[in-house]
Amino acid sequence: MHDFHVRRGQLYCEQVPVDRIASAVGTPVYIYSHHTLLDHFHKLQRAFRSLKPRICFSVKANGNLAILKLLVQEGAGLDIVSGGELFRALQAGCPPEQIVFASVGKRPEEIREAIQRGIFCFNVESIPELLAINAEARRLGRTAPVALRINPNVDAHTHRYITTGTAESKFGISIEDAEAFILTRWRDVPAITLLGFHLHIGSQITKAAPFLTAIRRVGLLIRRVRQAGIGVEYLNLGGGLGIVYKDERPQTAEAFAKVVTPVIKQLKVRLILEPGRFIVGNAGILVTRVLYVKGTRSRAFAVVDAGMNDLIRPALYGAYHEVAPLKQNGHGGHRVYDVVGPICESADVLARERRLPELQAGDPLAIFGAGAYGFVMASNYNGRPRAAEVLVKGRRWFLIRRRETPKDLMRQDVIPAALIK
Ligand code: LLP
Repeated sequence: MHDFHVRRGQLYCEQVPVDRIASAVGTPVYIYSHHTLLDHFHKLQRAFRSLKPRICFSVKANGNLAILKLLVQEGAGLDIVSGGELFRALQAGCPPEQIVFASVGKRPEEIREAIQRGIFCFNVESIPELLAINAEARRLGRTAPVALRINPNVDAHTHRYITTGTAESKFGISIEDAEAFILTRWRDVPAITLLGFHLHIGSQITKAAPFLTAIRRVGLLIRRVRQAGIGVEYLNLGGGLGIVYKDERPQTAEAFAKVVTPVIKQLKVRLILEPGRFIVGNAGILVTRVLYVKGTRSRAFAVVDAGMNDLIRPALYGAYHEVAPLKQNGHGGHRVYDVVGPICESADVLARERRLPELQAGDPLAIFGAGAYGFVMASNYNGRPRAAEVLVKGRRWFLIRRRETPKDLMRQDVIPAALIK
């Protein structure tokens, strides 16, 4: 599942003691395992080998250039949601024809850039957006390939903040609206080529059932559209595969593929997948150091040097991340701690009520499952430079993002001369 192991009382990432990296680079620091990352990608590739899908890694889960480059070298495409991510994907060396572009709010200049670069496909989230893409393509004298993102009204049974396939959510187009537009108004968009349909029903989904329900619903739509003489070549299933944070028992890639493959074959479509968390979630940890141990009458707090600005998932979703010391330090017994950051917000709790070996100032801790939606969601709140990132490969480790400095944080600030006395 991942390559972080305890050996002789010490946490290792592959062959490197994590503490060695923390001492060299400082804390907080994100540390990723090269092997875990590629292993997860290959697992998915293998599981679906009979369909030869396009696997477009979801850049929003982890956009580090070195990580993107590694996946692209292995044959991954990329799933992007903005002009910023388009730029990043191209910088990482991703061929434009391996890029898919979702997002409910694509700006005209982002659409233009993506058409000019020749991306594989826009995942279109509304009819007004489809008309806008058509207009931009016409102006450029080009055609734009699209998949319509269908909102199948399926509950993925995950956290409500990361459910995206129900009728109440802002994402996608209802089956009825998509069908009506394709069958009666398609001539309004002459600069659009319909490649197929897109689904993304949510994230951290542990069972195949909601995916299957969604595919079946879109399957009926595909049949009706084909009956009208319109071709449908692709079905993009989005991302959403769940991972283990605590005691979840998510489907494996093999089990997922076993359920999905026959249905896709029946539909005679080519498959696209957009995994994010599945590939990188358990490939990364956040390492932080205890600054102070303090107690109140009712609680013990380990105040650490990483905060909700570094890893917002616990504060935002009440997400659980496993926490463990890097070394079994033998200070003695165990105690129950709230592991809290230095930020001036009560929500700045990284882990609540955890039984840990007795902690002292200076002790380094690992926060697991931080590879996806960790660094990418970090901010500079409270004037805090964002953490460094390191990639471990076998016995070697590499800095893949320098720690920000206070100067970096002020780079874009302007003091207008007219305001200065
Ligand atoms: N495709 C689309 C269109 C998406 O919106 C997403 C994620 C993915 C693929 C990748 O999903 P994954 O395989 O990683 O589940 N920040 C939240 C997760 C938000 C997911 C947003 N969309 C978290 O930390 O749990």
